[in-house]
Amino acid sequence: MDRLAENGAYAVLATPSGARPAWLSAKYPEVLRVQPNRQRILHGRRHNHCYTSPVYREKTQLINRKLAERYKDHPALILWHVSNEYRGECHCDLCQEAFRNWLKAKYDNDLDKLNHAWWTGFWSHTFTDWSQIESPAPHGELYIHGLNLDWKRFVTYQTVDFIKNEIAPLRELTPDIKVTTNLMGTYPGLDYWKLAEVLDVVSWDNYPCWHGEVPDWDLAASVSFVHDINRSFKGGMPFMMMESTPSMTNWQPVAKLKRPGMHFLSSMQAVAHGSDTVQYFQWRKSRGCSEKFHGAVVDHCGHEHTRVMRDVAEVGKALEKLDKVIGTTVRPEVALIYDWENRWAIEDAQGPRKEKNYQGTCELHYKAFWQQGIPVDVINMDCDFSGYKLLIAPMLYMVRPGVAERMEAFVASGGTLVTTYWSGIVDENDLCFLGGFPGPLRKVTGIWSEEIDALYDSDVNYAVPRIGNRLGLTKEYKAVELADLIHVETAEVLAEYKQDFYKGRPALTVNRFGKGQAYYIAFRSGFDFLADFYSRLAEELGISRVIDCDLPEGVTAQMRSDGKTDYIFVMNFSNEEKQVNLPDGEYTDMLEGGSVKGVLDLPGYGVRILERPKTIY
Ligand code: GLA
Repeated sequence: MDRLAENGAYAVLATPSGARPAWLSAKYPEVLRVQPNRQRILHGRRHNHCYTSPVYREKTQLINRKLAERYKDHPALILWHVSNEYRGECHCDLCQEAFRNWLKAKYDNDLDKLNHAWWTGFWSHTFTDWSQIESPAPHGELYIHGLNLDWKRFVTYQTVDFIKNEIAPLRELTPDIKVTTNLMGTYPGLDYWKLAEVLDVVSWDNYPCWHGEVPDWDLAASVSFVHDINRSFKGGMPFMMMESTPSMTNWQPVAKLKRPGMHFLSSMQAVAHGSDTVQYFQWRKSRGCSEKFHGAVVDHCGHEHTRVMRDVAEVGKALEKLDKVIGTTVRPEVALIYDWENRWAIEDAQGPRKEKNYQGTCELHYKAFWQQGIPVDVINMDCDFSGYKLLIAPMLYMVRPGVAERMEAFVASGGTLVTTYWSGIVDENDLCFLGGFPGPLRKVTGIWSEEIDALYDSDVNYAVPRIGNRLGLTKEYKAVELADLIHVETAEVLAEYKQDFYKGRPALTVNRFGKGQAYYIAFRSGFDFLADFYSRLAEELGISRVIDCDLPEGVTAQMRSDGKTDYIFVMNFSNEEKQVNLPDGEYTDMLEGGSVKGVLDLPGYGVRILERPKTIY
């Protein structure tokens, strides 16, 4: 750290709780995690400690305190990075007890309340004493969905509690140094919205499988989706890309090298979506053990004359030219709800299909905007909707209390809501809404969903737009996997099913509600429908594109702004040369210098970063 400071560099200093020494496990076996099958693990690997263990909490605080005492005045210390990639759960007796206490607090010490919320009368599973409650286990209870949900909520709660315990001595000794931890994309085990609350800065680790089975173009949209979640966690505050690989990622099934251009492009992609840093795992390859073949800035050869080092240096040089971008953000007009609890509930439900693909569906809706260069916030259902023009809630199966009312208020005051099949089915405990689906969304959508049909992979139906529909849709679209059989109540039908016993029934509707409107997409479509639907809708609502022109396939444009100047990132995720027709205006090339006009050339995997006086957002 002294050498870093001497060279004008900073250190994000991590606390060591993610990996512990063998003596600690041997001396205090309670720090070792117990698996769902109730077997305690042996010492080994990492990220596998009990979050409840008082001993581990004490030891963690102690070493964090010592670190803070030692480095608190060090000029290189810029940020604390607590632990590493928090994950997993522990089922030991201490955790069971903590879970029961958490439940008692949640259900006001009232077992009847819990039994009702979990619907335990089903299969005669009513609990008559708190001690009978256990965390889900492969050889025990697995099918009380309310229990499963509460367990996951508890795991998040307990992890956050552990994090707070880690942070306490750091806050005490270094009140001016901010704290982060590195998240893992859409890791399902923890509700990251709750983790983000206790962090000063959000950061995440980004390891896409470039050049693999998913085309780079599609994968890039999924990566951008995650970047946008990280920017949305704190209402648009820039985040950090804490880790990315300079070359290969050894734990991937195929550790393919990034093709020339991709390292630069994917680094700038993070910045484009709100990251203020591009960081690497790892600086130097270790000589032994499991990450010796993971990409590093310095390879085993030990010198800097490598392709990877040149790639890294190129990114560094570009970042020096982007100082003005630091701290800027984007204020999208579109928000998409991707909600962890909703995901847990959807994935846990038996039916209507085994694979329900919530995440893939959200990503596909997102991609329809990404490919047009329209910025999107990716939020959860508790966020404020009021600043957006368009709110998209794909598969909003769970509707927590108050959410439908906030959606109604959003639409009534002029907002546009889009929701889909498999929405408004259960409350926060996974209990079905009675009286007709989509439950509390029925009024705003103006439809009643009577049944949902699950299709085999080989089945297909079609949605046929009605002639003269207000969005001007004319093509026939495939309906696959899930087809909601709805009735309109106050809504207008825009498209209907083509065949099967529900031929002629509504497949797409819109409901005017107050000053706004709510669309209901009853069928699962391919990307073709979403691309057409959302481009018409964006046009109708006057939603701005970052660059007001059609982008060629493979290219996206994203932006950040400081309120006076817009910083525009035009990125080509195909390996072919592309051209973008810039509308009139003054653009400066931030990397190459000079002004740009007319046609913007992008080589394969090329990126251009332009500056222009603020026009939108
Ligand atoms: C994670 C970890 C790092 C390292 C990398 C390898 O992100 O945080 O310690 O193991 O994976 O890709």
